[in-house]
Amino acid sequence: MASPSTPTGSGPSSAAHERVLILDFGSQVTQLIARRVREAHVYCEIHPNDVSDDFVRGFAPKAIILSGSHASTYEDQDLRAPAAVWQLGVPVLGICYGMFTMAVQQGGQVEASAKREFGYAEVEVHGRTRLLDGIADFAGPGGAPMLKVWMSHGDKVTALPPGFALMASTPSCPIAGMADEARGYYGVQFHPEVTHTVLGRQVIERFVLGIAGARADWVMRDHIEEAVALIREQVGDDEVVLGLSGGVDSSVAAALIHRAIGDRLTCVFVDHGLLRLDEGRMVMEMFAGRLLAKVVHVDASAQFFAALAGVSDPEAKRKIIGREFVDVFQREARKLGRARWLAQGTIYPDVVESGGAKTKKATSIKSHHNVGGLPETLGLRLLEPLRDLFKDEVRELGVALGLPREMVHRHPFPGPGLGVRMLGEIVPAHVKLLQRADAIFIDELRATVDPADGRNWYDKTSQAFAVFLPVKSVGVMGDGRTYDHVVALRAVLTSDFMTADVAELPYALLKKVAGRIINEVKGINRVTFDVTSKPPGTIEWE
Ligand code: XMP
Repeated sequence: MASPSTPTGSGPSSAAHERVLILDFGSQVTQLIARRVREAHVYCEIHPNDVSDDFVRGFAPKAIILSGSHASTYEDQDLRAPAAVWQLGVPVLGICYGMFTMAVQQGGQVEASAKREFGYAEVEVHGRTRLLDGIADFAGPGGAPMLKVWMSHGDKVTALPPGFALMASTPSCPIAGMADEARGYYGVQFHPEVTHTVLGRQVIERFVLGIAGARADWVMRDHIEEAVALIREQVGDDEVVLGLSGGVDSSVAAALIHRAIGDRLTCVFVDHGLLRLDEGRMVMEMFAGRLLAKVVHVDASAQFFAALAGVSDPEAKRKIIGREFVDVFQREARKLGRARWLAQGTIYPDVVESGGAKTKKATSIKSHHNVGGLPETLGLRLLEPLRDLFKDEVRELGVALGLPREMVHRHPFPGPGLGVRMLGEIVPAHVKLLQRADAIFIDELRATVDPADGRNWYDKTSQAFAVFLPVKSVGVMGDGRTYDHVVALRAVLTSDFMTADVAELPYALLKKVAGRIINEVKGINRVTFDVTSKPPGTIEWE
């Protein structure tokens, strides 16, 4: 994977667009800034705050956004925007920490505090700035426009830099927004990128479209043609191998590359035995059947189960599944002697996440399944046609490429599959029970419509699945006593998978699912519902 400080994704496809540069100071929500900018149909990229001045100039941004940070201006004197940011003559928006560093670098003053909290606030808007004029949630006591926002409480700007005027305030934070209209520099202490800031999306749109005047030209339809042309140019007459997992990202990558080079793409579908019920058949039907792509289907479940036997530690299981996957994939890829490229469905959040880890701006909770070492050992070059795109953009692309909506809008499924949804040791017979319980849950979610909005509960949740617990409990069925296993149902709502709320499924639905699982899946006699949000829980149980 390319280093995060190289201008990733800057092939002909993205360079043709006007671009916004987002400099990341290490906030947990920097990616949301990029999503809001993309939603305004403007192309943008996130790079670490310490890129060089030459990089900033070479990027030729139409505007620059400085993110928040977990750090304090006082704690870390080196955490500043490159000087070039202030020399290019383009509009700059500083968010939270970004506003503090703007204040300090432009000659204002910040009073630092070591601790920062995130919370709801109502800010009063002052003056008529191009950024906030006409954007208000309600009128305050004196008729002043007010915004409902999420704000960081911690450092404070205590003196405006020369040329800046007050733009927003709260009782506890007299300078919660500042503007230098002449230069197009704006600082806000609140976070317009998070959905809790009710009109945040409008604020970001106003900045990139209204103030910076960026063209709203990042449109999926055009992107297909650009991406196809780029793949053809990169690959030339070579052959490409791709690991198809049945997930959205690898499926969309396969469809896109197939559109570009047809039969010169071979998909290798490694079935580790830990897929959802019927998933193998569905993937083959779609790709080999409907798209007429070349797909090698490898049933490697025996190899995976043998390697996992007796292992119950979550991290050890993840590592084994990753290792065996690489082993099987390598063996199959070597058989395709003519392949010169390895295609992967890496998407933009993966690129940014690995960059974050490298610059120590994010912490790693679980070792994610990936095939990082493969290109080197196989002597293949890496083809990643989705690395500029967010998940929702990948879905839009999939639909535009003709993949069925149900496939493209499937909930995400982790690389290690049911391996992280079976606590403790993986027993093949238990995998079968879990697959069936999970399929019943998903069926019922799809079949049950919420009368409040006419949408079914599968579409209304971001991710839902069953988890197998390696414990037994006593029950009674008919006249007899049972002593069988337990499954937990999990259903969450999230927009970024970094935090998640429990989906409040109707009781009638939960009871129906529980009844069907216990009646139809012999070996399970109890069903529970997980009501833990993330944090403190993670979405998967392992
Ligand atoms: P957690 O459990 O960390 O999951 O809250 C967040 C999201 O990531 C998915 N996930 C994975 N995806 N390989 C993947 O491709 C993995 O190893 C992996 N582990 C978790 C999880 O399903 C959820 O959507």
